[in-house]
Amino acid sequence: MSSKRKPLQLAVLASGRGSNLQAILEAIREGKLSARVAVVISDNPEALALERARQQGLPALLVKPQAYSSKAAYEQKLVEICKSYQVELIVLAGYMRLLSSTFLKHFLNRVVNIHPALLPAFIGLNAQHQALEYGVRFSGCTVHFVDNGMDTGPILLQAVVPVCPHDTEDTLAARILVQEHRIYPLALELIAQGQVHLEGRRVWIEDWEKGSVNLWPGIVP
Ligand code: GRF
Repeated sequence: MSSKRKPLQLAVLASGRGSNLQAILEAIREGKLSARVAVVISDNPEALALERARQQGLPALLVKPQAYSSKAAYEQKLVEICKSYQVELIVLAGYMRLLSSTFLKHFLNRVVNIHPALLPAFIGLNAQHQALEYGVRFSGCTVHFVDNGMDTGPILLQAVVPVCPHDTEDTLAARILVQEHRIYPLALELIAQGQVHLEGRRVWIEDWEKGSVNLWPGIVP
């Protein structure tokens, strides 16, 4: 998609490895995503995501929750940082904390997350383990807007992944991750292009509804 809009200013919040951050940065570099990562924030000093951001010359901030007197004070600090970088969209990418309304009220419908399961199934931690234990034949990943609940916000995009007979948590996670890296940048680009509209918990994608974009060629006519 080409665009004359200004690149969407992102803050990426990550607690760990940062492979989704990397996929987002690559999509930007390849011109597939009209966005700019203004700041990367982590709650974990060991997060590889911080290292990846620094390697790209991006502001990479460690904000330790333990340094604040309360969750509200910590989240207020996150709000201040995001506002100081003129962030338009908050992208949670393996961020291991639940954001409360202290934060969310400042970025209403402007916070997205990726979850490694087909929501509403298998919310919370160890979603791949939960999928294996349950015995589902398919799992996948979900990009959704963030509300006050755990993995409960309106769903933007999903991708389906088969569960194979001899899968371990790691092999399933790896298969899902390939799809995460595909749909997260795509979802962000749809937002960047102003194509995404919320109506209650339904998310409408403009050109897709009109039939001029096919997110699943070969699957949906
Ligand atoms: C991903 O599986 C994502 O779905 C989940 O946390 C993991 C983060 O991976 N929310 P990474 O840090 O982006 O590599």
